[in-house]
Amino acid sequence: MIQLRELPPLSLYVHIPWCVRKCPYCDFNSHEARGEAPQKAYVAALIHDLEQALPLIWGRRIHSIFFGGGTPSLLEPALLDHLLSQFRALLPLAVNTEITLEANPGTVEASRFAEFKASGVNRLSLGIQSFNDQSLQKIGRIHDAAQALKAAEIALQTFEQVNLDLMYALPDQTLEAALADLQQAIALNPQHISAYHLTLEPNTAFHHHPPALPDDDTSAAMQEAIEAMLAQAGYVHYETSAFAKPGKQCRHNLNYWQFGDYLGIGAGAHSKLSFPDRVLRQAKLKHPAAYMQAVDNATHIESEHKLGRDDLGFEFMMNALRLTGGFPVTLFQERTGLPISSVDEALGQAEAKGLITRDHVEIRPTLQGQRYLNELLQLFLPEN
Ligand SMILES: C[S@@+](CC[C@H](N)C(=O)[O-])C[C@H]1O[C@@H](n2cnc3c(N)ncnc32)[C@H](O)[C@@H]1O
Ligand code: SF4
Repeated sequence: MIQLRELPPLSLYVHIPWCVRKCPYCDFNSHEARGEAPQKAYVAALIHDLEQALPLIWGRRIHSIFFGGGTPSLLEPALLDHLLSQFRALLPLAVNTEITLEANPGTVEASRFAEFKASGVNRLSLGIQSFNDQSLQKIGRIHDAAQALKAAEIALQTFEQVNLDLMYALPDQTLEAALADLQQAIALNPQHISAYHLTLEPNTAFHHHPPALPDDDTSAAMQEAIEAMLAQAGYVHYETSAFAKPGKQCRHNLNYWQFGDYLGIGAGAHSKLSFPDRVLRQAKLKHPAAYMQAVDNATHIESEHKLGRDDLGFEFMMNALRLTGGFPVTLFQERTGLPISSVDEALGQAEAKGLITRDHVEIRPTLQGQRYLNELLQLFLPEN
């Protein structure tokens, strides 16, 4: 049995599972909305889901809310407004709760930004991916470069906190083209930029029919140049793919990486919830129709399990070692209830391989550890 002296900060994740079209590289739980998506029924299911989860989080304050997808910006503004008022009625929200909504850069979406803001959304995360028409076409996006630019401009006029998502190492992309995308993003001066290396995920169209991708040397050069350009422009690299102006990190994602707690509602949403003597993981049914149907008779929880001691150590590291600044040694015990000595052997091996540095206060991945994160994490795998 473990013992947690204090429960971690708690976030709320809300999954919106529909997109206009499924992108060929995407393995998120997103589904093409053929015809009208049953948004109203889904929103009712979300509220019902939350009501049923309340006993798991009684009295705990929510520090951030994140609408992820899918394409949350497809939600009718009136329905989003209804959802947020229900959240306020059901949950104690911290002052200045960060409320992020993921949006796609379509024209319809951009016309709704002001309404989303009026409902309480205070951070917008825009899936730009690229400002290059050819690249956008090759990754099967339905928006073009002009729409991406326009949506980013409207987002920045509307919200105080904007994140732009970019992907690099795209089909046939050159180093120059990747840097031109980044240059454009920096010129817009958002508070936050996420730059993801395109990955070929199993069960995606790209996995079955791989496009011509830049070779490893080119994509490594892209990564290095992107990191250098962002540093030069005043963005702090704080997590593998996340860069922010000082003080503008995404609090919601930071809470994941610091192994905080989150309640996930919606199709396929995951939760990680701590109690004084255990840490629980839960997942909701993945398919939107099945989920909606099941919520009514409380059979929407697909899996639930208590994290064992070994899993706790590994999962903590899997998150916290993504942070370029690492973590305070004391956080390990605070979040897992285990002494840091329980991972001492793995820490020693990681240090000997030059993948981390550590002292009494802090543990942080070296540059090598950041580049070879999988190798570093393997050292903490339970069977190791
Ligand atoms: C949850 S997705 C959804 C955001 C939004 N629907 C969109 O696509 O514009 C969040 C981000 O993950 C990134 N992403 C998705 N699939 C990826 C992949 N296979 N490789 C790298 N990044 C990916 C994209 O940058 C995307 O904006
Ligand atoms: S729009 Fe975003 S969530 Fe939807 S399929 Fe494309 S990448 Fe996935």
